[in-house]
Amino acid sequence: MKALITAGGKGTRLRPITHTQNKHLIPVANKRILDYAIEYVSEAGITEVGIITNKNDDEVKNVYGDGSKFGVKLTYIPQDSPRGLADCVRIAEPFIGKEPFVFYLGDNIIVGGIKKFVREFEENGTNCHLVLSKVPDPERFGVPEIEDDRIVRVEEKPSNPKSDFAVTGIYLYDHNIFEAVNNIEMSDRGELEISDAHQYLIDKGMEISYSEITGWWKDTGKPNDLIEANRLVLDSVERKIEGSVDDESIIQGRVNIAKGAKIENSHIRGPVVIGEGVKVIDSYIGPYTSLNRDTHVKNSEVEFSIVMQEVKIYNQNTRLENSILGKNAAIAKSVRKPGANKFIIGENSRVFLL
Ligand code: DAU
Repeated sequence: MKALITAGGKGTRLRPITHTQNKHLIPVANKRILDYAIEYVSEAGITEVGIITNKNDDEVKNVYGDGSKFGVKLTYIPQDSPRGLADCVRIAEPFIGKEPFVFYLGDNIIVGGIKKFVREFEENGTNCHLVLSKVPDPERFGVPEIEDDRIVRVEEKPSNPKSDFAVTGIYLYDHNIFEAVNNIEMSDRGELEISDAHQYLIDKGMEISYSEITGWWKDTGKPNDLIEANRLVLDSVERKIEGSVDDESIIQGRVNIAKGAKIENSHIRGPVVIGEGVKVIDSYIGPYTSLNRDTHVKNSEVEFSIVMQEVKIYNQNTRLENSILGKNAAIAKSVRKPGANKFIIGENSRVFLL
């Protein structure tokens, strides 16, 4: 069994963060989204892993190299342009060959990983195994229509969904998927849709099995999804304090403070993760917050947020909440006259002031 993971696409819904960074490298609970994907396939016992990247984008390759750190062998498969998920499968055929494989969307995070689904597919011996999850907004996803426990139709982002299930980004296939991806047409939005490939398999009478995710699963396509994924991952963080905490500080609940971090005269209420080199001084850090490497928070309050590397948050008298701060961003109270709000923000940035 091999694995194919996506790390290409445009990431438009996560701008401005994705102007300078591939979305799969955004940290959730201080760990890159793609780390979760690679760990899941490695845990499932798969060592041969293909990664789809945008053509001329070496960012992912520079971070993961040959994959040995994760116990896998990585092969990078450049995609000319983001022509859809079925195109990702199509261009991976020389890498996959005749072997069965798991196709995993690199922006998905799922509790418990994918081992269980790989085993189910192997036991069922079907041509394709889809993993479904009940969602409140199926129109955002591929949606199955189920009759007598069989998937009879799959539609991509339908305006009238036929069930309240999403087809998640975990797909298991045998070699028949290549006939499907080579015989479908571009959709109206200009992509080769993976849902159309699934419909092709159904129409050809192939065996499609499915299972349902009972825990949580998250597609991290939009800013709120990222904050929610951060919350869900932090929910299982364990208390571990390796950094320095002075006597004036209070650390409550499941808080993970990496070595080299410094907490002075502050209140940290978990679940929270704090990376190496972070300084928190005279501040409050509330539940579901991750502060990444070398970030400094002084005289401020932050809660329910993703704060990336080397961010500076100084003298905020209003609590920062529900926020995503990209690498090296700075938020500070202006002390010089004339007193006014001053912004240097990139394209597609959003600021909500109280
Ligand atoms: O997350 C589950 C959903 O993923 C499914 O329910 C949908 O059926 C499926 O089409 C897909 O929908 P999205 O709109 O969320 O797909 P997105 O464009 O965000 O791409 C998903 C992943 O694939 C992400 O890792 C980016 C990557 N990608 C995407 C395209 C279109 C590529 O590497 N190349 C591409 O051409």
